[in-house]
Amino acid sequence: MKTLVLNGPNLDRLGKREPEIYGSQTLADLADLCVTTGKELGLDVDFRQTNHEGELLEWLHEAADNGYPVVLNAAAWTHTSIAVGDACAQLTAPLVEVHLSNVHKREPFRHHSYISAYAAGVIAGLGAEGYAAALRYIAE
Ligand code: DQA
Repeated sequence: MKTLVLNGPNLDRLGKREPEIYGSQTLADLADLCVTTGKELGLDVDFRQTNHEGELLEWLHEAADNGYPVVLNAAAWTHTSIAVGDACAQLTAPLVEVHLSNVHKREPFRHHSYISAYAAGVIAGLGAEGYAAALRYIAE
């Protein structure tokens, strides 16, 4: 089953970006983990990242039109974008919201998500393992 793993802004900076919060793994490391885990689970993982909100919206529309499950780390747009929330509302297959860091331990503006209401579940604070757990949930 094709599964989209979608990543939002600044996540291309993983490895260099605030390593005390996000760790030393790069986006390429995260992509490798997701593709390898997906293969073990029988999922065809398509891993993507964008710094352009419209591009993420189009990827979510693609998932809605094709019934693809989605693992989504919308990064800062999680907390700001009604448009991303509205796109998530159109999904028919399971959506899992993932954050590398535990957003609930951080600044109050990170505690609200426009996505969670449409997600089967939310995983925050487990680093890359959160993405693997999300894929395991989808495979089941
Ligand atoms: C993040 C948490 C967000 O608050 C932040 O804006 C990010 C990354 C995470 O993976 O921990 O860019 O989604």
